Amino acid sequence: MAKSIELRSQFPVLSQSVNGHPLAFLDSAATTQKPLCVIEAMSDFYKTHYSSVKRGAYALSAKTSQKFEEARSKIAKFIDAPSESNIVFTKGTTESINLVAWSYGLANLEPEDEILISVLEHHANIVPWQIAGKERGAKIKVIPCDDNGDLQIPELSALIHEKTKIVALTHTANSIGTITPLQEIIPIIRKLAPKAKILIDAAQGAPHSKISVKDLDCDFLVFSGHKIYGPTGVGILYGKSEVLENMPPWQGGGEMIEQVRFEGTTFAPPPARFEAGTPPVAEVLGLSAAIDWVNEIGIDNISACEEQITAYALAKLQKIEGLQIIGSPKNRGAIISFIIGKIHPHDVAMILDEEGVAVRAGHHCAQPVMERFGVPATLRASFAAYTADWEIDNLCRGLERAARIFLY
Ligand code: ALA
Repeated sequence: MAKSIELRSQFPVLSQSVNGHPLAFLDSAATTQKPLCVIEAMSDFYKTHYSSVKRGAYALSAKTSQKFEEARSKIAKFIDAPSESNIVFTKGTTESINLVAWSYGLANLEPEDEILISVLEHHANIVPWQIAGKERGAKIKVIPCDDNGDLQIPELSALIHEKTKIVALTHTANSIGTITPLQEIIPIIRKLAPKAKILIDAAQGAPHSKISVKDLDCDFLVFSGHKIYGPTGVGILYGKSEVLENMPPWQGGGEMIEQVRFEGTTFAPPPARFEAGTPPVAEVLGLSAAIDWVNEIGIDNISACEEQITAYALAKLQKIEGLQIIGSPKNRGAIISFIIGKIHPHDVAMILDEEGVAVRAGHHCAQPVMERFGVPATLRASFAAYTADWEIDNLCRGLERAARIFLY
């Protein structure tokens, strides 16, 4: 397989120095760098066939429309969706979740209904449900996690019942890296609440391991383009056909209609019903190139590479005096969260930046996780297919320097 170090030359951003050191980019959970093929696909669109989609009978638009719809089919195949009509383009994971909350949620939630999420969710999978729940008088219930950061599955039977209408769970926690056991949890939900719709936030999952919506049997799955080597501004909402077909539109505008009269409007079938207005064409074409790139490397090869680098990082970080890793889940994605003594993570991140090492410091848009572990913030190192051993070495050297400055 292609080694991470060999892939790096395809990523222009990674070849630079920062503060006199080679850039060690360890913030791929926030966003991944882009390979040249993605940058070129977007640039080629702007340079050679820039036009809108599905709105022009001329050659440029026909070519763009064809490539745009090919992207939809490619993404359907990537996650084992039955057809391209199951794939809605949004502007990101956050928008995909909001779409479901505002469309499915508002149309189906009733007072005293329950929405089940977990303590490990990113704010994007909490706040839309709080807003939609409040609007309809529905309550939020939360699956707790243990001290390792694993969801407490035995609690499920007390949390799920006939009033549970929506279950929205993360595939991989962006804050501490827990991979949730969806293959175990989803059958329990189906048994205890057969009418509940299940949404999986795969923002931190889809870029790292094979996801099959067929095997998972979820109703919705969402992820972002920019975390899977594609551009910002494009996201995916997968929905089961029978669920999408029965959902009302959430935004009105061009291309989502069948017929518009002043007396009333009829709506197009999915996915067009949920794509009002000119879509993010360049971004969809960039994402399409990113999926090609991932397919060429092989998502299983990417997983294997990342498992190796995560194990290497864990072993090295554990040797640093005063460093505490937050969460020790049974299955970990390519994410490690940690603190050093009582040094504020932002102070450490600034020392790391001086060494050319980029990590995220803060609450990672997951304040309930921070609260659960009794910390205001953590440092987070996160990896991708291009992460190299020397980046972890530079991280550890920077952390040792930060400990010398602040602890002793
Ligand atoms: N959700 C992204 C992160 O975890 C932004 O950093």
